[in-house]
Amino acid sequence: MDRELTPAAVESRLTTRWLGRPLQVEAQVDSTNSRLHEFARRGAAEGLVLVADSQTSGRGRQQRQWHSPPGTNLYFSVLLRPEWPVGATPPLSLAAGVALAEAIGPLLPAAPVLKWPNDLLFQGRKLAGILVEAQTDRQAVRYAIVGIGVNVNQESFPEELAERAGSLRGVTGQSHDRAEVLARLLGALETWIERLQSSPAEVLETWQSYAPWIGRPIAVTMGQATLTGTALGLTPDGTLRLRDAAGREQVILSGDVEQAAY
Ligand code: BTN
Repeated sequence: MDRELTPAAVESRLTTRWLGRPLQVEAQVDSTNSRLHEFARRGAAEGLVLVADSQTSGRGRQQRQWHSPPGTNLYFSVLLRPEWPVGATPPLSLAAGVALAEAIGPLLPAAPVLKWPNDLLFQGRKLAGILVEAQTDRQAVRYAIVGIGVNVNQESFPEELAERAGSLRGVTGQSHDRAEVLARLLGALETWIERLQSSPAEVLETWQSYAPWIGRPIAVTMGQATLTGTALGLTPDGTLRLRDAAGREQVILSGDVEQAAY
């Protein structure tokens, strides 16, 4: 049963100390990330979470849209005010990926897969995505926003997504309480964001434990270019290492792993 997605429904299940305190739920926004940028500029405190039942302009990575219909999925953004110098920003998206895998994995019949840079997949279908955006000045990160979309109870997708997208309901055959899934996710996010400070190697290691495609052939698209080779793993700052056909090691800062033998 999907109870209503209200602050009270989420808060009654929330185990966090600071994340999601406070938590704001809106029926509809353009994009929870865009709205949270406005809150952050006006001085909102670390830990604020903005959740929307639907988004009219949900944003994905690489200027893509995030399909955000009402009454069925989770779309939320988290405000962080970390004390990180510019250029030494730990890989927040990896911590968020691990949190997604650890929170959602127990709801699935088998372990999910993390696809670089930050998609959560099950049997090749994308269940969730992460969009991290940081605002920096010359010296420091002023704030960071972690936006997450999870396909929870959606039963069918538009034609262009139908082959690649999936939902928790599609995988498990039952509907899930969005407030409960969100509370679990926020708990895992708090844990893994804190661990990024205390034990970054553990974040990297755990992320890679959800990536069975490491050690196998992959293709990475970067704009018009495609690079093929063997995935070697991630660097500590979250970039992808690949051995190309000529045997050279390449480090990829941004792109999409398009084919992976998993
Ligand atoms: C991706 O896989 O391309 C990232 C998708 C991120 C979507 C979420 S939904 C909540 C938050 N608000 C947005 O506009 N985008 C993120």
